[in-house]
Amino acid sequence: MQIKDAVVLVTGANGGIGSHFVQELLNSQAAKIYVCARSAAKLSKLIELDPMRIFPIELDVTDLQSVESAAQRCQDITILINNAGNSLNQGLIAAESLEAARAEMEVNYFGMLSMCRAFAPILKQHGGGAIINILSLLGRINFPFSGSYSASKAAAISMTQGVRAELSGQGTLVVAVMPGTVDTELAKDWPNPKVAPSEVAKMALQAVIDGEEDVYPGEQAQQVSAQLLSAPKAVEKYMAGFLPGMILAGTDA
Ligand SMILES: NC(=O)c1ccc[n+]([C@@H]2O[C@H](COP(=O)([O-])OP(=O)(O)OC[C@H]3O[C@@H](n4cnc5c(N)ncnc54)[C@H](OP(=O)(O)O)[C@@H]3O)[C@@H](O)[C@H]2O)c1
Repeated sequence: MQIKDAVVLVTGANGGIGSHFVQELLNSQAAKIYVCARSAAKLSKLIELDPMRIFPIELDVTDLQSVESAAQRCQDITILINNAGNSLNQGLIAAESLEAARAEMEVNYFGMLSMCRAFAPILKQHGGGAIINILSLLGRINFPFSGSYSASKAAAISMTQGVRAELSGQGTLVVAVMPGTVDTELAKDWPNPKVAPSEVAKMALQAVIDGEEDVYPGEQAQQVSAQLLSAPKAVEKYMAGFLPGMILAGTDA
């Protein structure tokens, strides 16, 4: 499927990767881009990029009413980009309570699932289209520094596979994007190396054009995903060295 002339919705559009998605969609001549953020005030700069093609939507992916109202307003979309996510950098045992683990699951798993459910019928009406789910390499292997975030992304990877199977009959391509560390606010406390957010957006959109289902942006993601096939226990033991509460920013993984 081409990006040119597509009608696209991007969640978390004001964020590091989200704003690069918008720029890449403009470059690729998407017809219309619905940019979503929890507060419309966070979208004014993005809209200035092209007010004729960019439309703001207030959306909290954890609020079912908000998701349903976005679906009511955006009946013409052909590509859904589920990019919104959060990481509270907590351990599974070290965290004081389950609050962070639940909050991450609400956004990264239930929020993404709600969006897929609300927009699947719309994509069907327009011939299938595509869903891009922004997941993480950390969904393939737990990073204990952000242990509950990793678990929420693992749940979202499994959900993506199930959604892909259920929507194959209607011709919807479901793309799983699993970057390593990306240079954004969310990963400011994580170790290097970091891939550029523009690279993540470019590779994800290219996957839609190529009909590719699984994408690992950045050298780190490609190397680790290969190691997970050849030596999975060694990768687990290496990751076990990054424990909750460590000072990791500025170091190398
Ligand atoms: N950075 C990395 O290293 C990395 C690696 C792999 C995958 N990812 C994934 O990439 C995606 C984008 O992250 P990023 O790195 O660009 O981080 P970011 O700059 O912090 O952006 C996260 C975006 O998600 C939005 N968001 C959070 N909770 C939301 C909710 N309940 N409803 C709607 N929007 C919500 C944020 O909006 P507010 O401004 O309102 O908070 C923000 O726009 C996430 O899914 C993340 O897990 C990131």
